[in-house]
Amino acid sequence: MNEQFLQSLLKKMTLDEKIAQLLQLATPFFKGSNHEGQITGPMEQMGIREEDIQNSGSVLGASGAEEIINIQKAHLNENRLGIPLLFMSDIVHGFKTIFPVPLAIGCSWDLGMAEKSAEIAAKEAAVSGVHVTFAPMVDLVRDPRWGRVMESTGEDPYLNSEYAKAFVRGFQGSDLTNDLDRVAACVKHFAAYGAPEGGRDYNTVDISERTLRESYLPAYKAALDEGCEMVMTAFNVVDGIPATGNKRLMRDLLRDEWNFDGVLISDWGAVKEMIPHGVAEDEKEAALKAINAGVDIEMMTACYVNHLKELVEENTIDESIIDEGVMRILELKQKLGLFENPFRGADEKREKELVFSELHRKAARELAVNSSVLLKNDGMLPLSKEQSVALIGPFAENGDVLGPWSWLGSREDAATLSSGISEKLLGAKLIVEKGCGIEAGTTELINGAVKAAESADVIVLALGEASEMSGEAGCRSNIQLPDIQLELIAKLKELNKPMAAVLFNGRPLDLHGVIDEANAVLEAWYPGSEGGHAVADILFGDENPSGKLTMSFPYSVGQVPVYYNAFNTGRPQGAPDAQERYVSQYLDIPNEPLFPFGYGLSYTTFSYSEAALSTDTLHPDASVTLTVNVQNTGELAGEEVVQLYIRDLSGEVVRPLKELKAFKKILLQPGESAEVKFTINEEMLKYYHSNLEFNSDPGKFIASVGPNSKELKECTFELLK
Ligand code: BGC
Repeated sequence: MNEQFLQSLLKKMTLDEKIAQLLQLATPFFKGSNHEGQITGPMEQMGIREEDIQNSGSVLGASGAEEIINIQKAHLNENRLGIPLLFMSDIVHGFKTIFPVPLAIGCSWDLGMAEKSAEIAAKEAAVSGVHVTFAPMVDLVRDPRWGRVMESTGEDPYLNSEYAKAFVRGFQGSDLTNDLDRVAACVKHFAAYGAPEGGRDYNTVDISERTLRESYLPAYKAALDEGCEMVMTAFNVVDGIPATGNKRLMRDLLRDEWNFDGVLISDWGAVKEMIPHGVAEDEKEAALKAINAGVDIEMMTACYVNHLKELVEENTIDESIIDEGVMRILELKQKLGLFENPFRGADEKREKELVFSELHRKAARELAVNSSVLLKNDGMLPLSKEQSVALIGPFAENGDVLGPWSWLGSREDAATLSSGISEKLLGAKLIVEKGCGIEAGTTELINGAVKAAESADVIVLALGEASEMSGEAGCRSNIQLPDIQLELIAKLKELNKPMAAVLFNGRPLDLHGVIDEANAVLEAWYPGSEGGHAVADILFGDENPSGKLTMSFPYSVGQVPVYYNAFNTGRPQGAPDAQERYVSQYLDIPNEPLFPFGYGLSYTTFSYSEAALSTDTLHPDASVTLTVNVQNTGELAGEEVVQLYIRDLSGEVVRPLKELKAFKKILLQPGESAEVKFTINEEMLKYYHSNLEFNSDPGKFIASVGPNSKELKECTFELLK
């Protein structure tokens, strides 16, 4: 089958049939679905006709081989030309075996494991009948008030791009057509959804074209360079125009400049949302703007099916613009082999064997270990297996450790911290008390927990945010732990016992009330199905933590946005000629975040030698090698993420104080040292100039290397051009 087949199919399609291909509906609309007919709320008002459903092109949110096979069979019975449906779902960090949330995966700095997590998610999804996943989400994030930061890998364009590629490789593999255990990926949300003003979801994004290109766009581009099949639009405006109707963004940049020829889908309802945004008077105008901007599939609103025909008939648009979108959808169906085998990987027998298998859970445990970040440890951790432990807090026995977008993941199947710890203790006592709820509680309950903890050798606190407190529409202006949990910590502190806090949450938090009170703090994020086991592995020293933050932890919300790759001001703090008052600073809090990008502790220690360069001049066609000696100076084997940053001291426009350019994750035995080498070339020094030209400037640069973005060994070199 080939292009000709698709062309002749297109010729046979009526205009109505073509337009319906561009419609994506959720499962309740479809015969054979487990939710058939459950059409309530806004879905009722969509004005969808029976024939729109029969002719529609894709389904949102179905899962399970049985359901998908049933829907596809029913559809093929009724679709005049026998065009199969595409099944798309949000398989973001696992299907049923849930991996840590993407922000946590980011902190692993482990691209291989990130790829593997996507491969496993794809396998479970594909065998359950899914064809496309709405992932990876690669929006760059700098504001922890925004609930969706947990879906991103963080604040750095280079690292986000590396993860974007790894996820796409994992989902799609290298032969999507023949490898039925893979799904097509859809990178989202194009573009700059991660920069809403005030950290409030769906809010205005207003950034310069240069910042857009330099910081926000690279990860989407990286996903596409890796062959990502689809792109999803964003809810936000970009330069005053909603992304979903933004011709410059979609036609000029995505299609013409980047040559993307895959399917572009709107986010949920985003076409119609152009009306409240105030750029479309009605559904008809919204449809016109979206189709002109190049949106192929409209998700969950009916502007296309209700108005495109009229727009063609009155000659406002040419039918060819519709043909273009339909062809791209048919091409994806062909690439996935759906015309030959409309059920693709769906297989109920294999589904039972593969989904949530032992092997997959093992990988989830490994990644959860690698994703956890040890923020503080005064020597209290690791714990001895012979000490009695009081495990206190709302997450002690709570399965809400999967995080948002946990598809078929079930809280009942998730390993809780209490089960993880009880497996470790060698006969020593484990006391488990909730102490309080996540946001509510009573003094009596807290006092009860304090009393229970009195007899234990050590206290482990299990604290955090309910998963509903982050994710889509899960924004907070206060990013501390809820008051009741802070009260619990304060009361337990009075016992004067060693106390370690484990945090389950989806965003960088303001850790006042925790960080000074606890002797150790482990950021476990939402660690997924195997979270409780993985955290216990770390707490008892069966695993050595190696995660490093990929998003800064602010000192307090007043600093937000605070990120490592910021510009200097003309009046920086601490400069030799700085005045006392008139410098860029807060009067009440430091400028520095509480924990910077790249930060994370280990149970061992590493020492860095001075950094050395092979030469201090770089020519465009040559390279410079930076060498640093890293030694494990502690008593345990451990992994270290060695990070390379570069600063351009004098650019045509202001350049960031440092930018991550490369990293290496190395394993060192106690006493062992390694020479870590980085190659620096001109390509790494290029940036967008004021005329948007991507180039480098001759002059001086600082190359620095270290364990995080703050504690760095510097050396300088010059680019000669
Ligand atoms: C989200 C997307 C998601 C889509 C489909 C939207 O509300 O913004 O990330 O892919 O729903 O579920």
